[in-house]
Amino acid sequence: MLRTHLCAQLNENHIGENVELAGWCNTYRDHGGVVFIDLRDKSGLIQLVCDPTSPAYNLASSVRDEYVLIAKGVVRARGEGLQNPKLKTGKIEIVVNELIIENQSKTPPISIGDENIGEDLKLKYRYLDLRSKKSFDTFKTRSDIYKIIRDTFHALDFIEVETPILTKATPEGARDYLIPSRVHDGEFFALPQSPQIFKQLLMVSGFDRYFQIAKCFRDEDLRADRQPEFSQIDVEMSFCNQEDVMQVAEQLIKNIFASKNIDVKIPFRRMDYMEAMEKYGSDKPDLRFDMPLIEISDLMQDSSNEIFKNIALDTKKNRFKALVVKNGDNFFSRKTLSEAEEFVRKFGAQGLAYLQIKEEGPKGPLTKFISEKNLPLILERLNTQVGDIVFFGAGAKQVVWDYMGRLRLKIAQDLNLIQSNIYEFLWVVDFPMFEKNDGKISALHHPFTMPKDIDNPDIESIKSIAYDVVLNGVELGGGSIRIHKQETQAKVFELLGITKEEANDKFGFLLEALRFGAPPHGGFAIGLDRLIMLLTQANSIRDVIAFPKTQKATCPLTSAPSSVNEEQLRELHIRLRNIK
Ligand code: AMO
Repeated sequence: MLRTHLCAQLNENHIGENVELAGWCNTYRDHGGVVFIDLRDKSGLIQLVCDPTSPAYNLASSVRDEYVLIAKGVVRARGEGLQNPKLKTGKIEIVVNELIIENQSKTPPISIGDENIGEDLKLKYRYLDLRSKKSFDTFKTRSDIYKIIRDTFHALDFIEVETPILTKATPEGARDYLIPSRVHDGEFFALPQSPQIFKQLLMVSGFDRYFQIAKCFRDEDLRADRQPEFSQIDVEMSFCNQEDVMQVAEQLIKNIFASKNIDVKIPFRRMDYMEAMEKYGSDKPDLRFDMPLIEISDLMQDSSNEIFKNIALDTKKNRFKALVVKNGDNFFSRKTLSEAEEFVRKFGAQGLAYLQIKEEGPKGPLTKFISEKNLPLILERLNTQVGDIVFFGAGAKQVVWDYMGRLRLKIAQDLNLIQSNIYEFLWVVDFPMFEKNDGKISALHHPFTMPKDIDNPDIESIKSIAYDVVLNGVELGGGSIRIHKQETQAKVFELLGITKEEANDKFGFLLEALRFGAPPHGGFAIGLDRLIMLLTQANSIRDVIAFPKTQKATCPLTSAPSSVNEEQLRELHIRLRNIK
């Protein structure tokens, strides 16, 4: 090796030793004839010193940022008052007697470790961005987690199996990335949105317990916690019930968090989907703070306002929710109130009514529409005190849940009510099997999920044996017990409006496999990138993926996606339309 130590391995115990170090020039300073270089490697920084008597002095004077250096010298204690408490190696320095410039560097377009660089530039020079110790530590954590995952599953008697990347469409709700076939004119592979069907087929094969750290590909709108190409910890097991699957997921998560000295209590809390929606307006509630939504339809049915009254009367379709912000009145000025209203309008609210609880009584635009009889009953149910403010949301239940849930989160963030160093895990269970959007029925999880009562004529009230694991308001993973009988699977496809021909064309191979003695089975998948994002308290999933895509699903480093030449297109039997 060209080095005896890593930079930040050295400490006062090494004083007097001859060492050889290798790394990059993080910074250099020329202080009245003495050159100081902070040398960086993956472990951190150490200060090199070259005074004019050193044979390395002339060369040291020519060093610039990001030059690659090999330095030989002696470890010495820094003088009184010259120590740097911010640096792990701040009590020592290396007096250099030989310096080699292994390579020069152009002036770097970004400064290493700078967190405020624009996304495009950051990703274009991702290899420089990754040079920071913080980045390295993130990827070391990621690598350690791979080991914990494998150790956990091996201990539980699971085997790791790889499933195809060039495959057929899997229905996880996003668009597919397609790969044209050269050999078969006009035909396409799809990249897997998840290994869902293959892991079920492995259960039909009798593998019994499968896991994989699987790459998944989804062409969908990107956000801070979504990438087009991401990784899942994917699991499937046979002869199990929902509780068995959840226990495996809990053990895995517990082991992963233990590596960061975080003690996760298992079993996690469980909450019905309906309770999550009614109380928190979300199927992934953040439970680091409470602030529940409280239903008051029954007390608004005699409102003098016709619109409110009619909303309150139709309790099947609508909701009338109140959100109490304790001691929140002072926080909301005219300006912040109108900002809150603007915020909920973006998610379909018609407005945002509120009540301020003052010494002299409740004040606000809603007071005149609440009956005299019910006002004290509402305040009693909401348990309000002077200084509180209450917001109200009324209308179609899905819309009210959504914007009131978002408002709850926004207020908690704005008022700093969320502790950042706690981890609130939750299982959301008993999801509806189907959802209706614009009259179209789709599977809430995926169409292979086992329904609880498939013969129920009210499709929207059919529940499924599906569960999501949520951490601090982020959906970490989800899974279900699967349909293992061909007839049930065919019935679900039928309810989804998938014709027999379509079902055969898309999933015929699965339906066929279910006819050959498919065992009862179920599983889950956890978003690995999201998990690492939360564990390392990164702001975005992009920080924990070595070479991620931008929000627009591009790679500024390689300029992918990019055009290809005519010859390649011809080989793939493709002619482009609308080329400018
Ligand atoms: P699901 O679609 O819920 O389930 O995905 C499981 C988990 O994967 C993560 N995830 C993503 N992470 C980053 N970028 C994305 N675009 C993205 N999409 C999803 C989330 C999510 O909770 N086959 C089923 C699992 C099963 O039923 O076993 C599935 O894929 O953390």
